[in-house]
Amino acid sequence: MEERGRFVRHAIDNSVDRLDVESAMRRAIDLASTAYPHPNPRVGAVILTPDGHVRSSGFHRSPGGHHAEVAAIAGGVEPGDTLVVTLEPCNHQGRTPPCTQAILDAGIERVVVGALDPDTRVRGQGVDRLREAGLEVHVGLLAPEVEAADPGYFHHRRTGRARVTLKLATTLDGQVAAADGSSRWITSPEARTDAHRLRSLSDAVLVGMGTVIADDPSLTVRLDDYDGPQPRAVVLAGTRTLPATSAIAGRDPIVYRSSATVDIDEVVRDLPLHGVLSVLVEGGPRVAAAFLEARLVDEVVWYVGAKLGGGVGIPAIAGTFTSVSDAITLSVTDVTMIGPDVRITGHVADE
Ligand SMILES: NC(=O)c1ccc[n+]([C@@H]2O[C@H](COP(=O)([O-])OP(=O)(O)OC[C@H]3O[C@@H](n4cnc5c(N)ncnc54)[C@H](OP(=O)(O)O)[C@@H]3O)[C@@H](O)[C@H]2O)c1
Repeated sequence: MEERGRFVRHAIDNSVDRLDVESAMRRAIDLASTAYPHPNPRVGAVILTPDGHVRSSGFHRSPGGHHAEVAAIAGGVEPGDTLVVTLEPCNHQGRTPPCTQAILDAGIERVVVGALDPDTRVRGQGVDRLREAGLEVHVGLLAPEVEAADPGYFHHRRTGRARVTLKLATTLDGQVAAADGSSRWITSPEARTDAHRLRSLSDAVLVGMGTVIADDPSLTVRLDDYDGPQPRAVVLAGTRTLPATSAIAGRDPIVYRSSATVDIDEVVRDLPLHGVLSVLVEGGPRVAAAFLEARLVDEVVWYVGAKLGGGVGIPAIAGTFTSVSDAITLSVTDVTMIGPDVRITGHVADE
């Protein structure tokens, strides 16, 4: 086995082979990205022939369905083939048998893994099992891209919480609505289309009851070319009851009620039990403040409309800005013009 391992390691160092394996990993990431299997991970797999051609491929479509490796293996395996898979194969019996066993039974000799699986039931055990059986296993190819294609999964398995993106749309002077509560529309149609793309990347969209009452949003993805599932609608209702006539009432919303304010930490720990690993928080100001105060915002996406409110409207984040030392520092990772508006992306900086 050692001999075979050394030989394969030499082969994968060949630049042409590496290019093929990397292309295959990109193909596997693309395949994974087309699926909606949460709370399971998005996983794609490609089987390469010894000369680098794609023999078969597969991806994990839905919870309880075939894992990506098994779907790819079903397309056929020949001696000398390489399995390229975005996530470490599982080594435990879940709703389906362990993928490591399927890989060994198929006679695959070399496995290239994108990212290790942070799920406590896997965490390196899948790779160990394959190596112990004598397979050549490479780990970490395009791991950042693999994680970026399913950030909610990796975040949830590491923290136990749903990943939170806070999205706000304000005037240039930081107001989400005018004093009369009207906010349609502070940003341009282009920015609103971009915000629908953000919704399409999220398992759920969350607002507070104040926004439900003021705007009656449907919280759906409305993009011409979108045919994926709609994100769940989530409401922090507090003491109030969701009006039966509201646009989201018929969408099987997840509603959090409480005799006081809803505990944000409990919300982000409970959402994964509903299959929600990533949630887009769309406000309003009191809910935005609650998530920021709880330090449970993982990413901020801020659309700044090319408009000035002037005077006192409704600021984006509720509360009182008492002292500069209270300000939350953001690390900005991207600034992009969206039509006439600006989109700023970042995360709360470590303190
Ligand atoms: N431009 C934008 O991006 C944007 C986005 C959203 C909203 N808006 C605007 O924002 C305004 C509404 O804002 P808002 O602050 O009144 O409403 P909100 O933040 O949407 O909702 C606040 C309500 O949520 C409930 N809640 C439950 N748990 C909570 C918690 N932990 N923290 C905070 N609230 C909790 C409370 O209801 P109870 O009082 O019953 O306890 C509270 O009154 C509207 O004018 C809307 O148009 C603008």
